[in-house]
Amino acid sequence: MSLTAEINKRRTFAIIAHPDAGKTTLTEKLLLFGGAIQTAGAVKSNKIDTATKSDWMEIEKQRGISVATSVMGFEYKGIKINLLDTPGHQDFAEDTYRTLTAVDSVIMVIDCVKGVEIQTEKLMEVCRMRNTPVICFINKLDREGRDPYDLLDEVESKLGIKVRPLSWPIGMGKGFKGVYNLYEKKLNLFTPSQRKLSDDRQVFENLDDPQLDSLIGPGNANQLREDVDLIEGVYPDFEVQDYLEAKIAPVFFGSAVNNFGVNEMLDTFIQIAPIPQIRETDLRKVAPEESKFSGFVFKIHANMDPNHRNRIAFLRICSGKFERNKPYNHVRGPKPLRFSNVTQFMAQDKEIIDEAFPGDIVGLYDTGNLKIGDTLTEGENLVFTGIPSFSPEIFREVVNKDAMKTKQLEKGLKQLMEEGVAQLFTFEMGARKVVGTVGQLQFEVIQFRLKNEYNATVEFHPMNLYKACWISCSDKKQLDEFVRSKNRYIARDKDDKLVFMAESKSWLQMVQDNYPEIEFHFTSEF
Ligand code: G4P
Repeated sequence: MSLTAEINKRRTFAIIAHPDAGKTTLTEKLLLFGGAIQTAGAVKSNKIDTATKSDWMEIEKQRGISVATSVMGFEYKGIKINLLDTPGHQDFAEDTYRTLTAVDSVIMVIDCVKGVEIQTEKLMEVCRMRNTPVICFINKLDREGRDPYDLLDEVESKLGIKVRPLSWPIGMGKGFKGVYNLYEKKLNLFTPSQRKLSDDRQVFENLDDPQLDSLIGPGNANQLREDVDLIEGVYPDFEVQDYLEAKIAPVFFGSAVNNFGVNEMLDTFIQIAPIPQIRETDLRKVAPEESKFSGFVFKIHANMDPNHRNRIAFLRICSGKFERNKPYNHVRGPKPLRFSNVTQFMAQDKEIIDEAFPGDIVGLYDTGNLKIGDTLTEGENLVFTGIPSFSPEIFREVVNKDAMKTKQLEKGLKQLMEEGVAQLFTFEMGARKVVGTVGQLQFEVIQFRLKNEYNATVEFHPMNLYKACWISCSDKKQLDEFVRSKNRYIARDKDDKLVFMAESKSWLQMVQDNYPEIEFHFTSEF
């Protein structure tokens, strides 16, 4: 098959959701449709249940499990779908942000009872930054949820994206009768079943057909006619291009656990979702059709066995054909790298592969050469951009409790940061080291792993910090002056970039007002 045909065949996406909205359930149903698994219940949730929420050992175990489900590949109607898993626990949100850099589109699951929740809002911000096309799946229609019009309004107002329903629910909760597919003009009647995989939809080109009344009852039929009239009147026609440009999010309604509405969404997804896209680098744009291979590492998973410091680096292929055992240019590193152990993930299995194409994600066994954000190419010295660090939310000072193990501590911290477990900032004054995370759990993870894998003992001391802001200024003199006058609050990140450590929101605002020429950024790429 030609490279272009391979590219056109691929769709790489992630499902994002607030915990409990139904991401795992939807994933499972998609895999069932793809024939990748045979029975429901086969996909392990990567969610941490409430009983083990504070037990991070359990969480690491879960993360171990989730390597297998990091990428789930399957074929559906001739399309190769790569579904990237995102961590269920919000303390690992940074992992999710990075995973979103490796996809071409997302499906967002919203619980119809709870509406748009906080985690969804945060994830959508990342999608907006990258103009990632979004399909919205409103789930749990078998429950008494909120009014569909209200839900759509909330998506628009809270997530800042225009919506266009492509299906419409008939009733809800106990009175849920099914959904009408506005895109294909097909009626799908609801029969609660967790196992059904049927595709027996009835086509109604004309909703005035009296058969509709006998199928769903005259009350429901009239309501549906009214709703459809209203939607077609209020919402502009759906244009695929608007979705691809992330201007409009098509919306589907359904019930994942009952396998309802999922098939419709999947069928539309393969028709409209973007194929592997052109990507930005520091030098130029790279198109997937280019014959030479290029790709970037967006996730590193450490081996839990401390005796073998093996890690799996997840590589997104951006252009050309990736081949096993071929030496590639490691743009940041000193020497070319070749990989003999290359895995691809098919649903729950992984297999050693010889080649992979744009849109694919491969797992590379690595002994410590790669770090998150690294680019591999077939020669050119370019670096993929758009894999930023985000300002952490919780900061703690690292205190070394065993001066004899300072070297081990430095090494351990460096490697854990390369894996993206957390971010390290080193203050210019006094070289104090501060770890920043998005959740409490990472501190326990880091403390344990430093001891277990590097034999270093640390404590974390709370720090009164609000945000880490990367700073820049077009006038170097002014930047130097700012750094001098605020030197107590200036630190360096892992790439030696200048960071202003702000103690509070109001104080940051004051500093911003006092230094209008300095730019403050909340992500490391600007
Ligand atoms: P997550 O990965 O987004 O965190 O959510 P997950 O799929 O684990 O679903 C969270 C809960 O919501 C599960 O129930 C799941 O069965 C339920 N659920 C998913 N889709 C639907 C739906 O369409 N309708 C209804 N009524 N429930 C749905 P649980 O009780 O937490 O787990 P389980 O014991 O049922 O597995």
